[in-house]
Parts: sequence; C-alpha cells; structure tokens
Amino acid sequence: MDVYKIREDFPFLKRMVKGKPIIYFDNSASNQKPAVVIDALRDFYANHNANIHRGVHILSQEASELYEKAHDKAAKFIGAHGREEIIFTRNATESINLVSHTLDFKAGDEIIISEMEHHSNIVPWLMLKEKGIKLKYIPVSEKGELVISELEKMITKNTKLISVVHMSNFLGTVNPVEEIGKIAHKHNILFMVDGAQSAPHMPINVKKIGCDFFAFSGHKMCGPTGIGVLYGRKDLLKEMKPFLGGGDMISTVAYDSFKPNELPWKFEAGTPNVADGYAFGVAVDYLSKIGMQNVWKHECELGRYAYEKMAELGKITIYGPEPEKRGGVISFSIKGLEPHDIAGLLNERANIAVRSGFHCVEPLHRKYGLPKGSCRASFYVYNTKEEIDKFIDELKILVKTF
Ligand SMILES: Cc1ncc(COP(=O)(O)O)c(C=O)c1O
Repeated sequence: MDVYKIREDFPFLKRMVKGKPIIYFDNSASNQKPAVVIDALRDFYANHNANIHRGVHILSQEASELYEKAHDKAAKFIGAHGREEIIFTRNATESINLVSHTLDFKAGDEIIISEMEHHSNIVPWLMLKEKGIKLKYIPVSEKGELVISELEKMITKNTKLISVVHMSNFLGTVNPVEEIGKIAHKHNILFMVDGAQSAPHMPINVKKIGCDFFAFSGHKMCGPTGIGVLYGRKDLLKEMKPFLGGGDMISTVAYDSFKPNELPWKFEAGTPNVADGYAFGVAVDYLSKIGMQNVWKHECELGRYAYEKMAELGKITIYGPEPEKRGGVISFSIKGLEPHDIAGLLNERANIAVRSGFHCVEPLHRKYGLPKGSCRASFYVYNTKEEIDKFIDELKILVKTF
C-alpha cells in the first residue's frame, strides 16, 4: 500500500490553514472523503437523481439500481449472504436502535453489554429499562480489556442478547468477538456487534464472527454522512417487525391492514438516502481496492509507532492495552493539562486535529477517574509517520512547557 499515492485521492490534504496543511487525527469521529466519493455525489444529483422503486422512467430505474447495488457491495464487504441481510439506516446508532426497538423483549429479559461501550450501544438498551429489561455489563480491566471470564457467570436463562463493541473508540482495544459469539450461541443468546470502529479499518466477515447483527456507519469509512448499515441474519430479519411504517416498506396496504415488503426494504420506510447510499457503495469499492488487510496493517503500524514514541515522553498516560491488542486509536492525558486545552493547543499551533472529552464513552472515563475525559488521536489510511513525528514534536513542547 502506497500511502503517498493514496494521499493524492483526498482533496482535504491540499487545504492550508495559516500556511500549513491539516494533520487529521480525528478519524474515529468521522473521516475524510476521497475525490471518487465526492464526485459520485455530484454525478448522482447531476445525472441519475429520482425517487427509487416508484417509477418506470429511466432516472428512477437508474437511481434504484445504483442504490440497490450499494447494498450488494456492503454485503460483500462484510461477508453477508446478500442484500436481503443489509439494511441502510442513517448511522450505526440507528442500526442499534432498530434492533432494540424491533426485537420482542419482555419484562424480566436480560441484555449483556460491556463497560467499554459507546453511548450508542448503551442508551438504546437503557431505554428498555422502563419495559422491565435488565442490563448487565461485562467488566473492563484496568488495562482496558474485557474480563471475558466473567461473561458466562452473568448469563441466566433470561439473557436474550449480548451486544459488544468490536474495537473500542476510546481504548482502541480489539475485542475477541468470535469467542463471545461462541459463548452467546452455546446459551442460545442473540449476539450483536457494534462494528462502527472495526468495519472501516479491518477485514470483516460476519459469518466468521458468528454474530446475528452487526452495525456500522458509512461516514467513518470514506463514505458520506447519513448512511449506516445494519447487517442482520436473514431468518431473524424475516421474523422481526418493521421498525418504521410508510411507503416502500410494504407490498400491499388496505384500510385495515398492510403486508410488509421483502427484505431489506421492509426496514427502509419512506424515501431513503439514495444519493448517499450510492456514494457509500463507491466508498466501499475504494476501500476494497486498497484491500482491508492493507488498511489494517498500515493503521496498526501507525498506532504502534505513535504509542511507542508517546510512551517515551513521560508525563503522558496512554489508556488501553499494548499495541498488539489495539488498532490505530490512542487516548491519552498529559499531567497538568486539561484534554480540551491539549486539543486546542495542537489545533492552534500545528493544525493537528484530535478529539477531547468523553468520545461518547462517559461511564468508562468516569470509572477510570477521568471526569474531564481524555484526548484521542485516531489514524486512517491517509496518515503517515511524518505526521505522527510532527504530533510528537508538539507533545514534547506541551510536556516541557506545562
Ligand atoms: C464504537 C462506536 N459505536 C457507535 C458509534 C456511533 O456512530 P454514529 O455516530 O455514526 O451512529 C461510534 C461513533 O463514534 C463509535 O465509535
């Protein structure tokens, strides 16, 4: 993989602020788009724009085909059987909410998540508490790993679902989802994976993972905002009730009843996000061409490089496990400096974009005694070791000055 060649594909890298380029290390929040994706959006609206599934005219046919084919691409990208297992949503958050709202939970049912979840994989389940559903948390160790040995002890005959994050957006930890999937299925429990931070960075095969549901977002993998994906096992999706009602999700409607459409359209009510769906498919093509194995290798190399250099500086605390158990995400604190101040200084002094605060993982920050959160640098396919060197130079100055 030639990172310098890849960098030519990203227009944002040509942008200068105060005479200097931007070093973008906020990729876990959302990442930048290659020209092919930006061009696809323009091309769609210029040449193929129409509502889908409702017209016999050429534009509607073209728009329908482009949108549907994006589902096929997403299915191939994560090893699903086909488009009937791929529902387009707005984002990973909506994908998880679709499951929490449509599975048939009853009072007394139990759901197991973990202490390292993003709010998107906590709040939808907390919202079920008023239905009498109990939520349990797999503990996270001081080192930032799931204490899997606790999981089987937490399972009871009432446990209906286990839902865990694949790669933590705070700690960078890659969780053993295949092992968790085996435990879940041994006990006949449904298994969901929050893949918002894994699908953009590593090869994914949902059948190999053994999950029943897998959620991710297009905007974290070179695609536009406004498109997320829910993978669901076909037999389960067939049995589940529709999430939203309206046009396109039905095959027939009468005054007193309706019959849902076939999968996946049964779960995509109303006019969907056609242009972004199509452009998301282009992003999938773009990443597939680079090869997800290459993307992952590059990011792990960057992660290790940054981790080792940061560890040498002293006064910096890095959260989460050692490099071999994580991807290219590093959350840290500097003694004597608030996370927002670190991010502000990096931005002001060197156009380095990092995130500060809780990164939507507030409970775990509080458990670690971090009421102001942490700072996070997260890497993607276009980042380089030279950019990390610049980042380290700036951190050195901060460590020395404060
Ligand atoms: C691990 C994880 N899960 C879920 C989400 C939610 O993604 P979105 O905001 O695109 O719905 C994020 C976003 O940062 C995330 O990092």
